Amino acid sequence: RRTPVSRQADGSYLVSTYPEVLALLHDPRLSSDPSHNPQFAAAMAEQPEDRPPSFLLMDPPEHDRQRRLAMRHFGPPQAPRRVAGMEPRMLEIVTGLIDEMAGKTRIDVVDELAYPFPVSVICELLGVPVEDRPRFRKWVDMALEAINPGVDPQVQQQKREEAGNELFNFISELVERHRQAPGDDLLSAMAADDGPEGRLSTEQLASTGLLLLIAGHETTVNLISNGVLTLLRHPDVLERLRRDPDLVIPMTEELLRYEPPVHFIPIRTALDDIEAAGTTIPAGSPVTLLLAAANRDPQHVAEPDRFIPDRPDNQHLGFGSGIHLCFGAPLARLETQVALTEFARRFRNPRLAEDPPPYRPSPILRGPRHLAVD
Ligand code: HEM
Repeated sequence: RRTPVSRQADGSYLVSTYPEVLALLHDPRLSSDPSHNPQFAAAMAEQPEDRPPSFLLMDPPEHDRQRRLAMRHFGPPQAPRRVAGMEPRMLEIVTGLIDEMAGKTRIDVVDELAYPFPVSVICELLGVPVEDRPRFRKWVDMALEAINPGVDPQVQQQKREEAGNELFNFISELVERHRQAPGDDLLSAMAADDGPEGRLSTEQLASTGLLLLIAGHETTVNLISNGVLTLLRHPDVLERLRRDPDLVIPMTEELLRYEPPVHFIPIRTALDDIEAAGTTIPAGSPVTLLLAAANRDPQHVAEPDRFIPDRPDNQHLGFGSGIHLCFGAPLARLETQVALTEFARRFRNPRLAEDPPPYRPSPILRGPRHLAVD
C-alpha cells in the first residue's frame, strides 16, 4: 500500500496493488513483446526466424489474429463445448490415477495426481500420441531444471536451448503429421483452418501448440497441488466439500486468489511514460505485475489472508485480465474442480506428512514440488 509502484535498483518497476495492476493489464502502452525490453532485446534479436514467439509474447494486431484463430477451435463459443465435452474423460483419468494409489500408506499428490492428470488432458486435447509423452516430459523437466538456482548459468543456458530445440522440433513434426492425417484434436483443427483469420505457418502453429502444452502444464499442476495443500490445512473446508460438492466452484476461484499458480507477470515494457498511483513509469522501463499481491490487496478484498471457500464476488487476477486473459481458464477450472472433488470424495482422513512441503524453485510459478500425504 505504501509503495504501490516501486522502482527497483535495476530500473524496472514492481506494481503490487489491485487497481494499478488491473489498469496496467488493460493499458495498451504496456507491451508484452520482449523485443521492446532492454533486458531481452538482444536475445530476441538472436531468435532464429523459424522459431517465432507465441502470441503470449505479442502485441496487437498479430496477437489478436493468432489468439482469435486458436479461440475459434477452443474458446467461446466452442470452448464450453470442447471443454465441457471432456469432463467424463477427465473423471476417468482422475479415477484411474486414484485407483492406482489404493493400499499405499503415503502418496505424493504432485507426482501421482496433480502432474499426470492435466498433462494427459492437454496432450489428448492437442493430439500428442501417448507413446511420445515420456519424451515430452523429459524435455519439460530439463527446461525446468535449467531454471533451478545453483545451476551453473552456462549449463542452464545449454539445457534450456537443448530442451527448447527438441521440444520445438517435436511439435513442428507433430503439426506436419496432423496436417497430413487430421484427427479430432485442436492442432488438427487449427492446421486445417482457412477461416477469416488466415492460415498460420507450420512454425506459427508449432509456437501456439507449444504455448498451449507448456501453459496448460505447470500452472494447472500447481493449482491442483495448492488446492489439495489448502484443503489439508483447512480440514473443516474439506469436510464441507464432501457434503456439498458444488462448493468446489467458488472454492476454485478463491484458490486462484489465495494461492495463485502464477505469482507475477514479468517482461512487460512501458512503450510510453505511464502514470500509476502518482509515480511515472518512464518509457522503456521493464514492469512486473504482482498478481498474487494484488489478489490480497486489503483495499480491494476483505480479510485478504483468509481462505474463504465461498467468498462472494471474487474478482481475483489469477488468470490475468485484458487481452492476454488466460486462454485456458475454462479448461483449468474444470480440471481443478474434477480433481479436488474426487480428492475429497475418495480420501478418508488424509493428512499432510510435511508442512510446508518442498516448493518448486520458480518464483513465478508457485507450487509444491512434492506433496506427501498419509
Ligand atoms: C495466459 C494463468 C492454465 C493457456 C495466462 C495468463 C495468466 C495465466 C496469469 C496471463 C499472462 C499475461 O498476461 O501475460 C493460468 C493459470 C492456469 C492456466 C493460473 C491454471 C490454473 C492454462 C491452460 C492453458 C493456458 C490449461 C491451455 C490450455 C494460456 C495461454 C495464455 C495464457 C495460451 C496466453 C493468452 C494471450 O496471450 O492472449 N494464463 N493459466 N493456461 N494461458 Fe493460462
